[in-house]
Amino acid sequence: MDEALQQRFNDQIALELASAYAYLQMAAWCEARDLTGFATWMRAQWSEESQHALKFVDFVLDRGAEVELQPLAAPRSDYASPLELMEQAHAHEREVTAAIGALYQLASQLGDYASLSLLQWFLGEQIEEEASVRQIVAELRMIGDDSSALLLLDRELPGRRSPARSAGT
Ligand SMILES: [Fe+2]
Ligand SMILES: [Fe+2]
Repeated sequence: MDEALQQRFNDQIALELASAYAYLQMAAWCEARDLTGFATWMRAQWSEESQHALKFVDFVLDRGAEVELQPLAAPRSDYASPLELMEQAHAHEREVTAAIGALYQLASQLGDYASLSLLQWFLGEQIEEEASVRQIVAELRMIGDDSSALLLLDRELPGRRSPARSAGT
């Protein structure tokens, strides 16, 4: 695999792990505030992002390239509200989408078709994830200061279809 591409795949592994780390912190924040449904949903995201990292790790190894893990920065741990937390999650997902887009562009320039196939899957995944987070942000905006409405959403969230619902990913 091209050396620059290999480096970028390693960066992407770090970004997926940073996503997992951020969602775990968010899960803990929600749990500590008795938003157990939100916490369950965040934990599911933690798991999905860990799977994404593994998917990239396996791909790099299968291509005969080297995996080099990078240090993980501590995620942000203070949020003013569930809305602010979900807005952060949405901003983060958009950042990941942009990174995968940039990776796709590089792989495309290099004519690395195997990478394009993998990245195509991730681009589809990002559409789902952004849509699902955006939906929750919109609902939290409608809820505003209504704590009974927030409680209803908290009860409903764990049953909501996980963004990354494809089997085995
Ligand atoms: Fe991801
Ligand atoms: Fe994600």
